[in-house]
Amino acid sequence: GEKVTEKIVECSDPNRDFPCPPASRIPIVDFTPERTVTRIRRPAHDLDAEYQAKYKEAVGKMRALDKSNPLSFAAQAAVHESYCDGHYRLDPTEKNRPFDVHFSWIFAPWHRMYIYFYERALGDLIGDDTFALPYWSWDTPAGMGIPAVFKGVSTAENPLFDPYRNMDNKDALIDLDYLKTPRRSTIPFKPPPAWDAAARKAYDDAVRTNLSTIYIQQVRDGKGPRAYLGEKLCSEASSRVKEVNERSKRRQGGGGAPKVKASNAQGTLERMAHTTVHVWAGRSSPKAPATCSVDGGGVVGHDGQPHCSNDMGFLGTAGRDPLFYSHHANVDRMWHLWSTKLGGRGFDDPEWLDTSFVFYDDVKSPRLVRMKFRDVLDTANLGYTYDKESEAALPWLNSKP
Ligand code: C2O
Repeated sequence: GEKVTEKIVECSDPNRDFPCPPASRIPIVDFTPERTVTRIRRPAHDLDAEYQAKYKEAVGKMRALDKSNPLSFAAQAAVHESYCDGHYRLDPTEKNRPFDVHFSWIFAPWHRMYIYFYERALGDLIGDDTFALPYWSWDTPAGMGIPAVFKGVSTAENPLFDPYRNMDNKDALIDLDYLKTPRRSTIPFKPPPAWDAAARKAYDDAVRTNLSTIYIQQVRDGKGPRAYLGEKLCSEASSRVKEVNERSKRRQGGGGAPKVKASNAQGTLERMAHTTVHVWAGRSSPKAPATCSVDGGGVVGHDGQPHCSNDMGFLGTAGRDPLFYSHHANVDRMWHLWSTKLGGRGFDDPEWLDTSFVFYDDVKSPRLVRMKFRDVLDTANLGYTYDKESEAALPWLNSKP
């Protein structure tokens, strides 16, 4: 194992498309817990017109910020990209190992921190400190498709739209088993007014299957922190995975799929609905054409296979789709429900509790805030929570397969 503390976004990465201000000249302050809960996150499919307009306005303003501002939309997406696909080097003296916020017990708290600052920046931009990030509630039938607020024809018309999505699934019912056993045909997300019995049954069955997948993730297979949140970050394991993959890549003449997937340390929270929704929303074909090999300009997707770039489906580009942040708000909500309603407990290991990261805060004069995992275990410390209505009736709670 290794101790992971105080990561600062690396500025020298040639893949970054915005200049990073010199970290040494930006003071780092320690996070102080918020005193009151002022932000209630609500389901994106159920926002009133005013809230939808607010969300669009805020993201529109964020897109309009100059990319040299670390809280601009482009820079926020680049922060996520920096921490995956091998962009960030943990320790240049130690074999220049890449560091990743995925595939381990870092996943849940890091992403909670990341969208917390995104949410605050959006609130700042529209002068509303009660603005809460809407969540994409794919765990409830009415949310099992891309919410209408994200749809449109261009980012100019709707800042929440992104053209790099899998358009085949634009109006489809989500398939939470898309990665393992994809449904053979697409089912519409909104049942048409007149449906024959067979179509109705296919819809009902698909919803039921989705609900039991969430049940498996949250309850059956998510018992204890290691199963649910993932395993301790272990550098030996990750360099071993890398080594095996490089070798098999060489043997296949540069192309081909990685032999070992770097997913063994993921908990059910990361490995199940989270990953599936990414790929379902972002990738158009599970089969990568030859031109999309990693060496041919493609990237390794969430499933460990090489693909052509299509925002949500790949770690490196996922943050470029505004859908990402509402998707992650629901991943975050799943963790929140697990640790409150379902009685789950995180790790007692001080190595986990004291792991810290720094993030930019404050759109007008960006500064760096250091946060520890122990600071974010209770969302009340971060001044937000999730709507109680949805919590009262979780449709998957008893969906045993
Ligand atoms: Cu940082 Cu959903 O991935």
